[in-house]
Amino acid sequence: MTDQTNTTAREQDRVLIFDTTLRDGEQSPGATMTLEEKLEIASLLDEMGVDIIEAGFPIASDGDFEAVTQIAKAAPNTVICGLARANLRDIDRCWEAVRNANKPRIHTFIGTSPLHREFQVRMNKEDMLAKIHETVTHARNLCADVQWSPMDATRTEEDYLCQVVETAIKAGATTINIPDTVGYTAPRESADIIRMLLERVPGMDEVVIATHCHNDLGMATANSLAAVEAGARQIECTINGLGERAGNTALEEVVMAMRVRNDIMPYRTGIDTTKIMQASRMVATVSGFQVQYNKAIVGKNAFAHESGIHQDGMLKHAGTFEIMRPEDVGLTETTLTMGKHSGRAALRSKLSDLGYELGDNQLNDVFVRFKALADRKKEVYDDDLIALMTDQSTNS
Ligand code: KIV
Ligand code: ZN
Repeated sequence: MTDQTNTTAREQDRVLIFDTTLRDGEQSPGATMTLEEKLEIASLLDEMGVDIIEAGFPIASDGDFEAVTQIAKAAPNTVICGLARANLRDIDRCWEAVRNANKPRIHTFIGTSPLHREFQVRMNKEDMLAKIHETVTHARNLCADVQWSPMDATRTEEDYLCQVVETAIKAGATTINIPDTVGYTAPRESADIIRMLLERVPGMDEVVIATHCHNDLGMATANSLAAVEAGARQIECTINGLGERAGNTALEEVVMAMRVRNDIMPYRTGIDTTKIMQASRMVATVSGFQVQYNKAIVGKNAFAHESGIHQDGMLKHAGTFEIMRPEDVGLTETTLTMGKHSGRAALRSKLSDLGYELGDNQLNDVFVRFKALADRKKEVYDDDLIALMTDQSTNS
């Protein structure tokens, strides 16, 4: 590639979405999924336009191997990726599982930070460089699409990080992923690491650069987007942010952030965002991990309003208190939750939806009784309002 082409490639606005719900997501304690459940999720991810599905860790168990093998056949539009540690047995098993996919990928990794070198892999720097060269070369001899990750990259010494990445590229890696394995980095640093690698590592501008963030400090989404601004073009994420400890970057958050704030983050993905709620509900049901009410994009309250001022605003113009349309993520409408903070305008509108058109005096009367009820109940449901109205007509 010429310098000119490289610059153009780096400036391209398309960001690949790599979903690892079925691998890193499933690694959350208690989130184990059956083969049928994994196939159902994979086919929805395939339909919604995810670019790469990390389907599992084939060497981990026969069940994982089987799941990756089946998903490889069931998701025809997407790259199907399996994970492998830095040894030939893992890589061979991974290849066996993904090889029948339309677009197979091997993802191999090793922990490169001082802590991982000393306590996890027990390998010195030189031996590790040789191991990376050997394993990436082996993977590349099997598969044209090889992703390599220095696990705990964000706590790896800068000079050594450059060396390991350069070794992997020379051995044939086509995607270099920079994992923030323990959710330790912050947005500015996340971007600086990508810029530093682009500046110092030969060939870095010829591979796809990926960002893989964990959410231990609640910064996974911000860190992923900062990496993209610095040149990363693949975000690794999971539905609902499912993942070990505090989870991974949430797919729905990065995708909607780039869509809603495209003015300042001019990138695009291939995701059909109207399938986001369906995917969120499916993953919550299958994993048993319920989504918190105030979770961005997919929480029960993400498009719900209770306070009188907000409801009044929403009834006049949805843009007053919503920055995206519920339809864009697959919801049919905004919810005006009736509770003690609701005002007259919302009550009138809700009663009208239920078939009651009230004059001002009647509304005032119902409003007093509605507030008394709302003080006793967290939420006033449609049935409660109908009961109030029935009561009203018997009293009048
Ligand atoms: O968090 C991590 O470092 C990982 C690697 C296997 C990429 O999940
Ligand atoms: Zn991870």
